[in-house]
Amino acid sequence: MDRAIGVIDSGVGGLTVANELLRQLPNERLIYVGDTLRCPYGPRNAQEVLTFTWEMVEFLLTKNIKMLVVACNTATAFALESLQEKLTIPVIGVIQPGARAAINVTKNNQVGVIGTEGTINSQAYVQALKQIKEEIQVQSLACPLFVPMVERGILNGEEAEEIVASTLQVFKTTQIDTLILGCTHYPLIKDTIQSTLGNKIHVISSSEETARETSLILEMNGLLQIEPATYKHEFYTTGDIDHFQKMTERIFNRTWIDRDLIRFWHVKL
Ligand code: SIN
Repeated sequence: MDRAIGVIDSGVGGLTVANELLRQLPNERLIYVGDTLRCPYGPRNAQEVLTFTWEMVEFLLTKNIKMLVVACNTATAFALESLQEKLTIPVIGVIQPGARAAINVTKNNQVGVIGTEGTINSQAYVQALKQIKEEIQVQSLACPLFVPMVERGILNGEEAEEIVASTLQVFKTTQIDTLILGCTHYPLIKDTIQSTLGNKIHVISSSEETARETSLILEMNGLLQIEPATYKHEFYTTGDIDHFQKMTERIFNRTWIDRDLIRFWHVKL
């Protein structure tokens, strides 16, 4: 029963999902892979994202994971279907949970979505939202500068404020009452996004809903780790390990994550 949950992302953004998984499921063990070397995935074509995503998954399969969480919107948009079709373990992405969270919050059915070029062009959010509620109006915007900024560790301050404000200008005159952060990197600049948009727009990320869904799926499949355990979580990066470790320390909340239980490794895919 102590098999781990595998979590993948193009870089450090998925750590926001890992953080929430460890809060909601403190008995579970995580094995995370961040493809920081080849990040961002957003501007890449569908085939490339599919290939890179499968490379991370093949690596995790050698670790005998019991479930896979695709904590990257771009990878979810391009690879979720293929993964769900071919893998025998449960697989979830972050787009459906994000869409569900937005539908629960919006009062006027006008929802904004921001994400990478890949995610926005794929229309994956529009489809997911309309599948749940046909009358939802969606205003989408690609924000190609956000992921490189976050990967550099720029999460607040003048540079972040300028980039966020100039990118999100279109939402100044919008009718939307809810904005989905359709990229797992964006919760790391949520405060800057929220202060740019003001408090009339509800800004949501899919991390909480994704962790809730993970918990439900584990329970339904009899895979939930009930007993507390003190095993090590494994965090792999394809890029610079020191930077990755520093970013993880910044992102993770000390109150529910014992950092002594996390081991960092470099992986070549
Ligand atoms: C990216 O690698 O461009 C962003 C990852 C995401 O879409 O969540």
